[in-house]
Amino acid sequence: MHGVRKAFGAVQALDGVDLELRAGEVHALIGENGAGKSTLMKVLSGAHPADAGGMELEGKPYRPTGPLDALRHGVAMIYQELNLATHLTVEENIWLGRELRQGGWLQRRRMRPAVEEALARLDHPDIRPHTRVSELGPGARQLVEVARALVSDARVLVMDEPTSSLSRRDTEGLFRVMRRLREQGVAIVYISHFLEEVEEIADRFTVLRDGRTVDRGEIGEVSLENIIESMVGRSLDEVFPQVEHAAGEVVLSVRELAGHGLPRQASLELSRGEIFGIAGLVGAGRTELLRLLAGLDPIRAGSVRLEAGCSMGLLAEDRKEEGLALDLSLGENLTLPRLRPLLRRGWLSHQRRRACTERWVKELAVRCDHPDQPAHALSGGNQQKIAIARLLHQQADVLLLDEPTRGVDVGSKVEIYRLLGQLAADGRALLVVSSYLPELLGICDRISVMHRGLLGAPRDVGEWSEQSLLHEATRGSGDSQALSA
Ligand SMILES: Nc1ncnc2c1ncn2[C@@H]1O[C@H](COP(=O)(O)OP(=O)(O)O)[C@@H](O)[C@H]1O
Ligand SMILES: [Mg+2]
Repeated sequence: MHGVRKAFGAVQALDGVDLELRAGEVHALIGENGAGKSTLMKVLSGAHPADAGGMELEGKPYRPTGPLDALRHGVAMIYQELNLATHLTVEENIWLGRELRQGGWLQRRRMRPAVEEALARLDHPDIRPHTRVSELGPGARQLVEVARALVSDARVLVMDEPTSSLSRRDTEGLFRVMRRLREQGVAIVYISHFLEEVEEIADRFTVLRDGRTVDRGEIGEVSLENIIESMVGRSLDEVFPQVEHAAGEVVLSVRELAGHGLPRQASLELSRGEIFGIAGLVGAGRTELLRLLAGLDPIRAGSVRLEAGCSMGLLAEDRKEEGLALDLSLGENLTLPRLRPLLRRGWLSHQRRRACTERWVKELAVRCDHPDQPAHALSGGNQQKIAIARLLHQQADVLLLDEPTRGVDVGSKVEIYRLLGQLAADGRALLVVSSYLPELLGICDRISVMHRGLLGAPRDVGEWSEQSLLHEATRGSGDSQALSA
């Protein structure tokens, strides 16, 4: 695609975009909301004609007249909002609108092998041609959409934010399928504002900002910081706003703590007004450490001392599976763990709940229409703010935050970083687990690295770099090696 332009009335959605895709790659299309990613992909997949610019597919001029024409050329798009008819079977959905007929009769025999072949390419035995889509979970439904594209022999497959409503497990399943398709030579465009996922799955990237291509390259060759800077057009100082805060007295002391399994040994001291980061690889035992501290799992050895009168609150890693009750209202989510202040003569006062919710919504600048809205109506970033507000409503002095900005767009990340800084400034103590190194380096005062269940010695943030954190996360520190030997 070169020099592609597209306006909607006065809005210049695309202002001269270049994009090059190769067979057998996952190409990340990156940009903030409104950058033009979806519009560009609609031009590619024939849903919008471009105003100017050109496209070539396998060396020949390509100018689709509509989505079906694009599909005939091997270009398929999977939309953000899935397009499945849930009362129909997998097979019926895969052929929906394109059924093979002869003399008006459905050619089921001819359709079946293509469906089986497409499902086989996904390597998901749980998805059978006769299963009704309503019986499938969100991850499997996404894969049915992919199968639908494969039946048309897609050479270019566009996925527009396919993981925004998937759990981590379903996301991993989708990534396995994407890797398989990549090996089979399919060019995949992957749109996501989860940069950690982009880093995990993509080979190359193109960054759009305000309808223009502002950066492109190979994922392994640039840092995430650089990608973020191109995407937001701001320097990292602005991505990690600094809120003045200073460490006070120690509120939490952890000595040689061990669980049944992980962690094997962790010691740390956390002070009021401090943001303490824990880095490490997935599976190193960081989440387990937070769960031990929160009292969710039994302690095998060691001690935890919390200052008298203080309390701890945990923000769990998987917001969708154990964080919020997505069907309940914001107010219910926020106040359920501590209803006492909402009681009037022993009865729950809806008015008090609403007033309380409104106070937190205002304080944390949560973007929502109404306190009675269900939590699922909010964006990921705003859901996360509600989850943090709940800890504050619980009056937690020590906040245990597990991947607090995972699955959140960059704009909301910035707001959450500012909020965490303010909480530290208010004298709360924050223990932050994150796999996103720029974030730890950007917001923490001190950082320790967890390696195979052993927590290394903390160092001031200025003494760490992304390289040294990664080095210790993969190889452990000198001390922890001595201990494991
Ligand atoms: N059908 C449309 N009508 C009018 N404006 C649109 C339409 N589609 C997108 N836009 C505008 O075009 C710009 C780019 O939007 P979009 O391609 O959806 O961005 P992204 O997918 O990167 O978030 C935005 O300003 C958006 O409001
Ligand atoms: Mg979009």
